[in-house]
Amino acid sequence: MKNILERLEDRRAQARQGGGVKRIEAQHARGKLTARERLELLLDTHSFEEFDMFVEHRSSDFGMDRTKIPGDGVVTGWGTINGRKVFVFAKDFTVFGGSLSEAHAQKIIKIQDMALKVRAPVIGLFDAGGARIQEGVAALGGYGEVFKRNVIASGVIPQISVIMGPCAGGDVYSPAMTDFIFMVRDRSYMFVTGPDVVKTVTNETVTSEELGGAKVHTTKSSVADGAYDNDVEALLQIRRLMDFLPSNNLDGVPEIPSFDDPNRGDESLDTLIPDNPNQPYDMKELILKVVDEGDFFEIQEAFAKNIVTGFARIEGRTVGIVANQPMVLAGVLDADASRKGARFVRFCDAFNIPIVTFEDVPGFLPGTAQEYGGLIKHGAKLLFAYSEATVPLVTIITRKAFGGAYDVMASKHIGGDVNYAWPSAQIAVMGAKGAVEIIFRQDLGNPDKIAARTKEYEDRFMSPFVAAERGYIDEVIVPHSTRRRIARALAMLRSKQSERPWKKHDNIPL
Ligand code: HXC
Repeated sequence: MKNILERLEDRRAQARQGGGVKRIEAQHARGKLTARERLELLLDTHSFEEFDMFVEHRSSDFGMDRTKIPGDGVVTGWGTINGRKVFVFAKDFTVFGGSLSEAHAQKIIKIQDMALKVRAPVIGLFDAGGARIQEGVAALGGYGEVFKRNVIASGVIPQISVIMGPCAGGDVYSPAMTDFIFMVRDRSYMFVTGPDVVKTVTNETVTSEELGGAKVHTTKSSVADGAYDNDVEALLQIRRLMDFLPSNNLDGVPEIPSFDDPNRGDESLDTLIPDNPNQPYDMKELILKVVDEGDFFEIQEAFAKNIVTGFARIEGRTVGIVANQPMVLAGVLDADASRKGARFVRFCDAFNIPIVTFEDVPGFLPGTAQEYGGLIKHGAKLLFAYSEATVPLVTIITRKAFGGAYDVMASKHIGGDVNYAWPSAQIAVMGAKGAVEIIFRQDLGNPDKIAARTKEYEDRFMSPFVAAERGYIDEVIVPHSTRRRIARALAMLRSKQSERPWKKHDNIPL
């Protein structure tokens, strides 16, 4: 028996070595941790249960039968994050660059199937060069099976991808079908194919960082939802994110004990809105002052900053926050902001996370750049996402709610459950100046008349009361009571039920 135990220990030790000491050293020299080191940081201590440690590839082409490494480039299993079950796989770059063989794919598929069976999230740590070139179609087939499972699990269990090294091919397409992608700055890259192939095909000379670094994907392409300075920081932030997320689409949001009084008022909010309606203020200040312990996990912080999205808690329960940001482009809705908001709203709705919307929006951004870029279709995404949402929707209009953007941002008309306005709210088709210049065009040569008309328009429409008179706003609230009002609204809405007619699926404008 002793011999057998020793043999087991030997085989385990060999598997833990992955691609060998040299390659592990090279991995460290690049500022990257190994797959196993990463899992140790991600999961609660001693919680990792590994599967398929001894699986090897079955390929013999190109001399591959002489290079079999137990585990075959991916470490898989499950564990816990702050006591809650998650399934994990971590690509091992030291083994064939983490590339995916048929056997490697089977390991990931086993995790995906198990996670779906027990309705727990999947977190993938990526550091890999896509399909294993030596295996050809067997590897492509393996990816197809992984992709299909990504899609079947979408909206049932959260799927999170962390990009921690150079990633290409299937190692970017599978993440692209998950809910969130996070990257590590200066050492992780995402591209369909790398700079060498780009040079050959398009004759373009480009570095990995320029082609698919964290900066590109968090600010330009919006492929990634956030970036962190190193592996440790990234993994700790994923642990933090997981505390906000439900395990599946039926469990409801996790409840974390909160020591922040839901009735806590904040007098400083009464002076947050500047006297001048064209002067910006920081919407994030409002968010941080309203949510539990000022704890806000922002999604896509660096992209389309005119809209803010992220997770927070009220009375210990997760909420999704969507907020126009007057500090950037006056909080206008453009194509990027609409896409960003829509995807976030849909995630929240799929996983039963109530949405709190803070609104200060001067409308949709006009102009050829936006129209040519498909503003109509992208803006429709946000309108569609809010309109189809059945989770509790609580909306606070702090200042401007102009035009179509008023309708879009979880207005009563498209399904807002509780809609409040601050006394500073201005709910109208457009700002006073634009409105007067259109409806009193004949008076444009007479500044006194225009001034009088503008004043008249402001008095009538630049307030929350016309909307409140019609019941479109449930109540005009004092700003310092915002946290209490939201907490009470969410508590009341906890038992919300909403039925929709049967359909196969909707047809959101893509
Ligand atoms: C087999 C691979 C590999 C792959 C890397 N390696 N990618 N082996 N199949 N796809 C091996 C290398 O041979 C090398 O082995 C080791 O991993 C490290 O790779 P390097 O190139 O030395 O590292 P680096 O310079 O950091 O570059 C990493 C890389 C690059 C950017 C990922 O290796 C690369 O471009 N790989 C190919 C990417 C690709 O085109 N994949 C196919 C995608 S098609 P040694 O033994 O030297 O250490 C695909 C289809 C899916 O995935 C379908 C999508 C819809």
